[in-house]
Amino acid sequence: MRIAVIGTGYVGLVSGACFSEFGVSVTCVDTDCAKIARLQRGEMPIYEPGLDELAAANTGAGRLAFTDDLAPAIEGADAVFIAVGTPSRRGDGHADLSYVFAAAEEVGRALAKTRAGGYTVVVTKSTVPVGTGREVASILGRVCPSARFDVASNPEFLREGSAIEDFMRPDRVVIGADSERARAVMRQLYWPLYLIETPMLFTDIETAELIKYAANAFLATKITFINEIADLCERVGADVQDVAKGIGLDGRIGRKFLHAGPGFGGSCFPKDCRALVRTAREAEANLSIVERVVQVNEARKARMADKIIAACGGTVASKTIAVLGLTFKPNTDDMRDAPSLEILARLAAAGGTIRAFDPAGIAEARKLLPDLVYCRDAYETMEGADALVLLTEWNEFRALDLTRVGGLLAEKLVIDLRNIYEPAEMAAAGLCYISIGRSPKLARA
Ligand SMILES: NC(=O)c1ccc[n+]([C@@H]2O[C@H](COP(=O)([O-])OP(=O)(O)OC[C@H]3O[C@@H](n4cnc5c(N)ncnc54)[C@H](O)[C@@H]3O)[C@@H](O)[C@H]2O)c1
Repeated sequence: MRIAVIGTGYVGLVSGACFSEFGVSVTCVDTDCAKIARLQRGEMPIYEPGLDELAAANTGAGRLAFTDDLAPAIEGADAVFIAVGTPSRRGDGHADLSYVFAAAEEVGRALAKTRAGGYTVVVTKSTVPVGTGREVASILGRVCPSARFDVASNPEFLREGSAIEDFMRPDRVVIGADSERARAVMRQLYWPLYLIETPMLFTDIETAELIKYAANAFLATKITFINEIADLCERVGADVQDVAKGIGLDGRIGRKFLHAGPGFGGSCFPKDCRALVRTAREAEANLSIVERVVQVNEARKARMADKIIAACGGTVASKTIAVLGLTFKPNTDDMRDAPSLEILARLAAAGGTIRAFDPAGIAEARKLLPDLVYCRDAYETMEGADALVLLTEWNEFRALDLTRVGGLLAEKLVIDLRNIYEPAEMAAAGLCYISIGRSPKLARA
């Protein structure tokens, strides 16, 4: 089979590389010529574990190619995946669909140039609001009335940092399509996953579009719920780690996404929750839980800055704060909507000097937080600092030499917004330790 993937971001690139690993001939297309030039040289524009090797192997085998020229990529393709960005639209929080619609127009123009008689499934892999698939179909029909095509929705559930494993062994594949012919093409493309008994949910296009938003909103709600429980734990002297374990062992609740922290961020949850809220408002449906989740999460970032300032004795003016971790989660270089952006901007506005280190995110962070002092490793960051803040739970921050940490810090204060250390081990190292949802009495234990 042959496919084209439009957009070589986190989703397009990973999907393209993984489909080529399935034996499909894949051409990835992007309008960003510099990105395509890098990909053609074998350089990955994003940090994603395992992607370099996977792309190199499949490019070498002749199954994966990169181009900025859409028309030849589409010629004879069984399916064209649209995997361009759908960021929040400024002002109203709706998904900005301009990239998706532009891609649909380009696909329509390219189909018009290809030989007659072919059949193509145009698949939206981007996260798009209900109704977008129909809109894509009407664009294609208008731009290329002679084309024989179907539109399908195939939302992507991969997580940055474990994207390849998630694509290769997903919990499920969701496919929204109206015609049996389109379903057959999609089934054939995902055949290797069918063979390993991956659940395949075939549904209509609107339902597939909504499943993606409902999934992200549910996960965001779970995180926000445990964050609020963590705040309550701090007030009443309980331990949120044990509360999470105690409820998570209930199969109806599940253990995942019950890690209290500084609030969710990243390129998906915030924008997708906002877009879902817009969809509900336009449909005059009540989605007050998700609306509240968005508000609570936004407020949490400011509260995290206040928590750090309070831990520093009420002010960070003229103080130096060492920060470990800037990306919204470990194993990615993605800084979009990372909690660090707001938290650190607030600390800087309050007069703090911030020394920071992140294993993969510094190049992106420099563009968004130019005034930070960027360091080469965790320990250099701490030299002479008045507090250490753990902001992203990269593995390399989980086993710091606490004696060395104490020796480097001017004030032996550690604020752990990811609960990656035990209060007792911090106390044993002589460090004042403040974490999330664990009351000070636990730190003294
Ligand atoms: N990042 C994730 O973890 C993730 C997970 C699941 C779903 N999604 C969804 O997948 C979609 C893509 O997300 P992403 O993070 O990969 O985006 P991204 O911003 O990293 O990449 C988008 C790419 O599309 C390219 N592009 C834009 N318009 C184009 C056009 N007309 N033709 C060709 N290329 C074009 C851009 O140059 C860019 O390289 C979004 O809808 C997102 O919500 C993302």
